[in-house]
Amino acid sequence: MTQPLDNIVTEELRWTGEEYSKDYLRAHEITNTGIPEEFVETPEFLWDRLRIKEQGARTREDKALMPKGYDLHLIVAKDTTNGEVVGAGLGSSLPLTPMRGSVGLLCYAAVDPKYQGRGIHKRLSVERYKKIEEDSQNFNLPLLGYVAEVEFDNHEEATMLRKNGFQRLDVDFMQPGIDAEKGVNAMYPPEKIQLFYRPAPNGVTPEMARHVRFSPDLIRAIGRAIFRKEYVENPLKDSIPYQMYLESIEGRDSIGFKPPYKVNSKN
Ligand SMILES: CC(C)(COP(=O)(O)OP(=O)(O)OC[C@H]1O[C@@H](n2cnc3c(N)ncnc32)[C@H](O)[C@@H]1OP(=O)(O)O)[C@@H](O)C(=O)NCCC(=O)NCCS
Repeated sequence: MTQPLDNIVTEELRWTGEEYSKDYLRAHEITNTGIPEEFVETPEFLWDRLRIKEQGARTREDKALMPKGYDLHLIVAKDTTNGEVVGAGLGSSLPLTPMRGSVGLLCYAAVDPKYQGRGIHKRLSVERYKKIEEDSQNFNLPLLGYVAEVEFDNHEEATMLRKNGFQRLDVDFMQPGIDAEKGVNAMYPPEKIQLFYRPAPNGVTPEMARHVRFSPDLIRAIGRAIFRKEYVENPLKDSIPYQMYLESIEGRDSIGFKPPYKVNSKN
């Protein structure tokens, strides 16, 4: 059970100019503490993506992120007693053009250890759902669900997601190799990662998860959107991890969740 959230407010952090804001640097520090080295991102990477939101696309890569409404939200939690950022969560909206719908992607979130266990992560998640719902209205595309990529050893995150209406999709999803400086880098080997999905609006219970099936077209489109918008892998026909993902879907009539469906299962 979490304690009350006195003195904590959440807000969307935006790009404010060429220089990083103090709040951004703190959010970057919190989200990059304690994660494996290859996933640590330089502050430039996300700051530049936030810039595109404010200033519009400049380069070809910017444009690949923007058409038809891609939106990225960095939500921060602040302690109002000292104005410090104490938690941050990143989410984005991915339009699925062939489906005429969109899905929300819950990317990473982290809370300062001194503030953990007070429901801040929950607040960051709820705020991200709200932003993603607003995006779907703005894009004029119905919101189909939410996805999250989860490392195989992150049992804590898997359990939290299961408690909140997500289950693991029965597919082999691959992340491209990632380099801290340059983002995706073909020199690093692709890595298997779990793809969790929560159908909108309320997700599934373990009992529902046993029976529900999705069209392979939907699942393929979700993966494609993640590769395009998160990893900016282009062209996708040359992406080995994306082609491996497609192979795991190939020839299937429908796709469901992967057992076990229990809320507290070890993935
Ligand atoms: C994991 C971590 C972010 C939790 O932060 P926290 O503020 O201590 O977490 P909370 O106090 O909000 O407890 C988690 C709550 O959020 C809820 N929650 C988690 N994911 C959720 C989601 N997607 N939607 C809605 N609620 C969610 C949980 O159910 C839980 O609520 P409950 O107490 O009612 O069951 C924190 O321990 C941390 O920073 N760890 C290191 C980074 C990390 O592992 N991040 C994993 C996510 S990428």
